[in-house]
Amino acid sequence: MDMLHSAQDLRAVVGRWRTAGLRIGFVPTMGNLHAGHYSLLRTARERCDRVLASVFVNPTQFGPNEDFARYPRTLDADAAGLAEQGCDLLFVPETATLYPFGTEAATRVDVRGVTEMLEGAFRPGHFAGVATVVLRLLNLVQPDVAIFGRKDYQQLLTIRRLAADLCLPVDIVAAPTLREANGLAMSSRNQYLSPVEREQAAAIHHTLQAMRESVIRGETLAQIEANAVAALDASGFRTDYAALRCADDLALPPAGQRDGLVALIAARLGNTRLIDNLAIDNGVG
Ligand code: PAF
Repeated sequence: MDMLHSAQDLRAVVGRWRTAGLRIGFVPTMGNLHAGHYSLLRTARERCDRVLASVFVNPTQFGPNEDFARYPRTLDADAAGLAEQGCDLLFVPETATLYPFGTEAATRVDVRGVTEMLEGAFRPGHFAGVATVVLRLLNLVQPDVAIFGRKDYQQLLTIRRLAADLCLPVDIVAAPTLREANGLAMSSRNQYLSPVEREQAAAIHHTLQAMRESVIRGETLAQIEANAVAALDASGFRTDYAALRCADDLALPPAGQRDGLVALIAARLGNTRLIDNLAIDNGVG
């Protein structure tokens, strides 16, 4: 597997693949790769002839009090893991390649609607940073397919909206969330958790499952959300939200809607903020 740093080298390789008529799959990451990322790679491999991953810890999607400085940077291990998984090319751009005018003066992409609630409300500017870097990466790589995990559900919807709204010639494909044996969604941030917190953190998935069962039983959505927050707080979390939304656009569900929903949670355990979600599609709608 080659590792490239410059846009020029990247374009040369991808250009050769394209001339040969190969279908190109792209997995953008911030590194510190785990089994969840490798499953994105397999999803790309199933659909494409060549698979390319990027590692870039994007400063513009972190808020001033977030973990940009301490975000784990493990490039050697990431490159070894990607090579073992059969990745064809790793792109590791410099900040100046993605932000030639600096991050403050950068042209930014503001995806409306789907970014404005939930994570968007708790992390102002986060999705503008994500959309801004993903658009740059897609323009540089020009893949046929780009893979994003369902674990970051609002991010997935944001990128789908970005691609549709800006007529980007790329298929955005969603890959399922990989979980630890106790149900905890795999995430690079899990490594901030102590062994005890890792066990405690499984309560997020269990609460999402309880929310889904309560929807199916017909409880009111407001009551289900309130019960979920109370259950998480009682398990030692500081809960930012436990919400039931329309799966398509994260709008508040119309009265009586029980299908095509998604349950989403963001909660802090110690200094670590975790997010997760679960689809609720019970065929009754
Ligand atoms: O999900 C991530 O790892 C990041 O948000 C992404 C999509 C690579 C953009 O920096």
